[in-house]
Amino acid sequence: MFYPEEIVEEVRTKNDIVDVISGYVKLQKKGSNYFGLCPFHNEKSPSFSVSSSKQMYYCFGCGAGGNAITFLMEYENYSFPEALKALADRAGVALPEKDMSKEARAQADLRTTLLEINKLAANYFYYQLKHPQGRAGYEYLRNRQLTDDTIRRFGLGFANKTGDDLYRYLKDKGYRDQILKETGLVTIEEKGTHDKFWNRVMFPIMDVNNRVIGFGGRVMGDGKPKYLNSPETRLFDKSRNLYGLNYARTSREKFLLICEGYMDVIAMHQAGFTNAVASLGTALTPGHASLIKRYADQVILTYDSDGAGVRAALRAIPILKEAGISCKVLNLEPYKDPDEFIKNLGPEEFRQRVDKARNSFLFEIDVMKREYDLEDPEQKTRFYNSAARKLLEFPEALERDNYIQAVAREHFINYQDLRRLVNNLGSRLGGVPQGGRSQNSLSYKDRKKEKEDGPKRSQRLLLTWLIEDPRLFEKIRGIITPDDFREELYHQVAQMVFDGHAKGDVNPAGILNHFIDDEERYHTVASLFHANVGESLNNEEQKKAFSETVLKVKKNSLDEASKKATDMAQLQEIIKAQSALKTLNISID
Ligand code: UTP
Ligand code: MN
Repeated sequence: MFYPEEIVEEVRTKNDIVDVISGYVKLQKKGSNYFGLCPFHNEKSPSFSVSSSKQMYYCFGCGAGGNAITFLMEYENYSFPEALKALADRAGVALPEKDMSKEARAQADLRTTLLEINKLAANYFYYQLKHPQGRAGYEYLRNRQLTDDTIRRFGLGFANKTGDDLYRYLKDKGYRDQILKETGLVTIEEKGTHDKFWNRVMFPIMDVNNRVIGFGGRVMGDGKPKYLNSPETRLFDKSRNLYGLNYARTSREKFLLICEGYMDVIAMHQAGFTNAVASLGTALTPGHASLIKRYADQVILTYDSDGAGVRAALRAIPILKEAGISCKVLNLEPYKDPDEFIKNLGPEEFRQRVDKARNSFLFEIDVMKREYDLEDPEQKTRFYNSAARKLLEFPEALERDNYIQAVAREHFINYQDLRRLVNNLGSRLGGVPQGGRSQNSLSYKDRKKEKEDGPKRSQRLLLTWLIEDPRLFEKIRGIITPDDFREELYHQVAQMVFDGHAKGDVNPAGILNHFIDDEERYHTVASLFHANVGESLNNEEQKKAFSETVLKVKKNSLDEASKKATDMAQLQEIIKAQSALKTLNISID
């Protein structure tokens, strides 16, 4: 790790996790814990818990968990050293100078190095654009009416035709192939090495903290693909970043404008709409929605006016709604996208369209209506029925009625008739539904339900229980040692938990520090420190489960040991222990 363990612990312990998280999430005290809405997934009732005694957070909905350091890493997209620095500053702790070789540093923190390389690459592309070799790119952007200021603000650049000059530039700076591969900027194969981007104007993609996490490159002219994007890397998660959000988050507007592409964002910003962001080629995800929710609870969709844009809007609306974001749709007709619209009609007209943006539900009804030939009585009836069915999406009677009124008025349907239709349909379908079922919370649960085999599950449960209730150590004394945790990761954690217990201080948040370098491992470890509902030891059944679990862990451990035993004496020991297990009885209380 980058800093000595004592320093990391000092910084962590001087920042109370409840204070730190309260700066981002509204927390309420419930019993000995604090609860709030999880910032890492969409939810309407709080399942995000912060424990003051453990100095950890955990979300029972999506499984996110960790200590104050990992919270900042996840929330701010900080690397470990950045998160540590932020907390050190917050608590007034001076961090020691880092005097490590470049190589040692690369080892110590891959993410920091990747960020460093991306920044160098962005500067390199910008430099090319501004020099004769990048003239084609510069002229292209100027032809698209971007000013020099805009080009600088968005750090636009140019990737040369050469094919490997960026690679050579970065090599010269001392980076190794190994790490360059991970940036997604170069392809290193036996056949040779080349830059991923060439002969393209370059759009650096920044996270909310203005750090370059990836690139998009637009081909000059008509080649394919029109836009090439960085692959997903350790830094770049497409479903969790929005292009332009680094600027949009500081705009004064209460809403965000969401569009499809790089040029749309830039054109809108240049025209003064600095609250525009784009989801970049991928459909809007629940991850995007929860990111948006941090900064705004209203959005206006400004997707392309073609069929694909309308479909994208129809897909985005329920995702935004689910996240509690209210949503409108802007009409760009007769133009294709915001960039074209602004070029042709100017910012003033665009502003008027913003003010007139359509309520997303009414937009959905408009789109639905286009599928029917209203001259035909049968189809007209079907349209009314579909509209009525859609109106049932509103669980609240009052809200539903407001929409029934609006739809009736706008589509010239008699209000009373439409209302009756909705209600009849509602009772036929078994009462008015209780809102839509959350799609994304389902998928989160699915993700959590990853396969876990028997022995692994027993070890995890036992470890969780021991952490939860130190009195249980009494019950397993002489039976279970850290070595019985055969899973490598659990073994490491068990060793620290047992050591901590012997010293009278099991320190979950501190133990977690050891795993911060590896995201997957720290998630696994963080979840050990929180018993899930149905896994806590508070009823008779669970207490019985405890003794069974202890036996399972021990049995598995002995079985493993017997497989590995090399001499007779060892084997006899194991067999003796195995038969002793049959008569072992552990009870709690
Ligand atoms: P568009 O094709 O609508 O881009 O794709 P645009 O912004 O209007 O392009 P210009 O004006 O011709 O330059 C919208 C977005 O979809 C993603 C890009 O993020 C683009 O900005 N996209 C598009 C890709 O990722 N790859 C592609 O090949 C095309
Ligand atoms: Mn477009």
